[in-house]
Amino acid sequence: MSEFSADWLALRAAADRAARADGLVQGLAGPPPVQAGGLQVLDLGCGTGANLRHLAPLLAAAGHRRQHWTCVDHDPALLAQLPASTTTWARSAGLHWRGELADARLVGNDWRAAVVVRRLDLAHDLPALAPPAAGLVTASALLDLVSAPWLDALLGRCRAAGCALLFALSYDGRCLLSPAHAEDARVIDLVNQHQRTDKGFGPALGPAAAERAARCCRALGWRVRTAASDWVLGAESADLQRALLAGWRDAAAAMAAPPGPAASTAGLDAWLQHRRRWLATGHSRLQVGHVDLLALP
Ligand SMILES: C[S@@+](CC[C@H](N)C(=O)[O-])C[C@H]1O[C@@H](n2cnc3c(N)ncnc32)[C@H](O)[C@@H]1O
Repeated sequence: MSEFSADWLALRAAADRAARADGLVQGLAGPPPVQAGGLQVLDLGCGTGANLRHLAPLLAAAGHRRQHWTCVDHDPALLAQLPASTTTWARSAGLHWRGELADARLVGNDWRAAVVVRRLDLAHDLPALAPPAAGLVTASALLDLVSAPWLDALLGRCRAAGCALLFALSYDGRCLLSPAHAEDARVIDLVNQHQRTDKGFGPALGPAAAERAARCCRALGWRVRTAASDWVLGAESADLQRALLAGWRDAAAAMAAPPGPAASTAGLDAWLQHRRRWLATGHSRLQVGHVDLLALP
């Protein structure tokens, strides 16, 4: 169903948490009067629930003691894992998770979040989803997958509903690799071309997503703040680096022209071998550019 496995989402979770620009959440400090019944949150492309786990406690700390989350994804395997992943995390965070997908609760000392999980194909069924009036629409690691027309449609609906937006961890195309290799620039260029191919929503915005979202939000009258949320991966992130490098090699190979004979990817394979050697000796460092965006109505 999805190109995102639960294993991949688990592998990237620590880097995501460390990277996110949490200072932006202060901009959501509340609650505003219209949200007296609690803050309505719509999480798009929720996967196994990483954004819920990260954001709900921060929103609580920002004054939102009552939250109502709707978490949406099209992948049933990822959604099925949300309760187990959230239960384990909640225990370690001193919180409680009760219930199942249709009706669950995340409970802290002085706050709680009701959680409803919905399976929906956002690419085709966006009109079936009502952005919460004066609430928050959020997503993590989703925006770079979507197309310009889809983003425009989402923003138009959110603007009409008076929502705030928080889009975390949109890949922006910047990659710094250390030690340097002569093939790095070519590989990253091919990866960034691959990022713009169709991920189910039409031609993806890829690295341009956050910038375009910021520009459109300003044009529609939102107050916008952005902040870098780069992954900075050292020896402690060897598994994530290994998976990322292999993924980059495959994405670059898919874009390298002409497709076909093994010889055309020999340079990419040699690049990967070099980088794996640096990884094995603890010398490899990767910085992967991301942007977080907050838009306030
Ligand atoms: C990179 S993952 C991010 C998941 C989660 N937000 C996180 O931060 O771990 C992208 C998510 O978007 C979801 N997704 C992709 N295309 C979708 C679609 N057409 N409709 C709904 N969800 C989609 C995937 O299933 C996946 O869970």
